[in-house]
This record gives sequence, C-alpha cells and structure tokens, in this order.
Amino acid sequence: MKHGVFITLEGGEGAGKSTNVPWIADYLRSQGKTVLVTREPGGTEVAEAIREVLLSPELPGMNADTELLLMFAARNEHLHTKILPALVRGEWVICDRFTDATYAYQGYGRGIALSRIAVLEQWVQGDVRPDYVILFDIDVTTGMTRAQARGRADRFEQEHAAFFERIRHGYLQRAGELPARYPVIQAAQARVNVREQLQQVLERIIAETNT
Ligand SMILES: Nc1ncnc2c1ncn2[C@@H]1O[C@H](COP(=O)(O)OP(=O)(O)OP(=O)(O)O)[C@@H](O)[C@H]1O
Ligand SMILES: [Mg+2]
Repeated sequence: MKHGVFITLEGGEGAGKSTNVPWIADYLRSQGKTVLVTREPGGTEVAEAIREVLLSPELPGMNADTELLLMFAARNEHLHTKILPALVRGEWVICDRFTDATYAYQGYGRGIALSRIAVLEQWVQGDVRPDYVILFDIDVTTGMTRAQARGRADRFEQEHAAFFERIRHGYLQRAGELPARYPVIQAAQARVNVREQLQQVLERIIAETNT
C-alpha cells in the first residue's frame, strides 16, 4: 500500500533537472513533507553499478535492447528496495529521471517499439506510476550547450542533435496525453524563472494531494 507521493523529473540533457532537485526537496521540506531524493539510472548500490555500464563512453556499441533491459534491471532494484518502501512510509519521493526517460530515449530516441517498453514497465512496476512527472522542456541547442559546458560527455551526451530532437518530441507527446500529471516547465528560462514555475507546480501538487 502506497501512501506517499511519487514525483519524477524528466527532460533532455542540460534542462536543469539535477540543478533543481535540492531546491525542490528544500521547498517540500519547508512545507512539512518528509522527502527522499534519488535518481535513475541508479539510486542503490546495484543500480549505480548498472548506471556505470549504461553511461560509460568506453562502451559505445551497446545494443539498444541491452540498454533497455539494463535500464529496467536497474529500475527493478531501485523501485523495490528504495522507492516503494519510502512511499509505503508515506514519504515524498523525488526521482531525477524514471520510466518516461526510457520511453523518450530508448523508444523515441533509439526507435524501440513503445509496446515492448510497456511490457517491461508492467513487469517491473506492476501498476506503480509516478503521481506527477515534471517535464523540463528545453530546446535542444540550449540544452546541449549547457550539458557540454559541464564537462566530459557520457555515452548519451555523445549522440547527435536529431536524437535529442526525437527525445524532446517524445516527452512532449507523453505530456500532451496526460497534461494534469505532466506539468511542463519552460526550462530554457533563467534559474529564478524556472524556480517560480516550479513553486507554482509544487503548490498545486500539495493542494491536490493534500497529504
Ligand atoms: N536556468 C538555467 N540557466 C542557465 N544554466 C542553467 C540553468 N539551469 C541549470 N543550468 C546549468 O546547466 C547545466 C546543466 O544542468 P543540469 O545538470 O541540472 O541538467 P540536467 O537536466 O540534470 O541534465 P542531464 O539530463 O544531462 O543530467 C549545469 O551546468 C547547470 O548549472
Ligand atoms: Mg542531471
């Protein structure tokens, strides 16, 4: 039985998800919530080890299905040993990327059929889905410029602009299907404006969940 609130942060490279995670957690704590911050791929010892394989620029030739299966292997470990126990305790879980990223990257980006991803989603998650997916939408050029300024590119960041255009389209497609569950942040704006948008979104979520 889940009593907490499960929020994931999504969007392309350099959109500002990781930058804003501590601020989101602080804001929720200031509102009296108990918050667990985590990320994917990773979040537990085993899943972080899988993350190393997934992101390593030294393993450029990975088969797309292998990548997909590793993502869900890491997710299975993370969900069942960390996320679900926290939700059962009634906590708010903030996860930097989750299954929407798999649909966007391995589905829209790599071209794996979305129906195959859905099979693994059901296997690993059963009926568990994020309560809210906060989508950081940013144009590909701005996002890539920000990500490049950060330093050495991981295996995904080495992809080309067309790959990231497909990912952006995929995210927006998913958000458009369920707009109430997918608040969209205009992430190319200045940090202060992004935070204003986030605060509005979080106020709405708190009002709707009323926990
Ligand atoms: N609103 C902003 N304006 C300008 N730069 C920003 C803004 N938000 C974040 N940045 C900078 O952009 C870079 C990328 O941000 P961040 O690492 O948070 O992105 P991300 O969405 O987590 O990306 P990834 O998906 O690659 O992990 C960082 O160097 C960060 O300091
Ligand atoms: Mg990040």
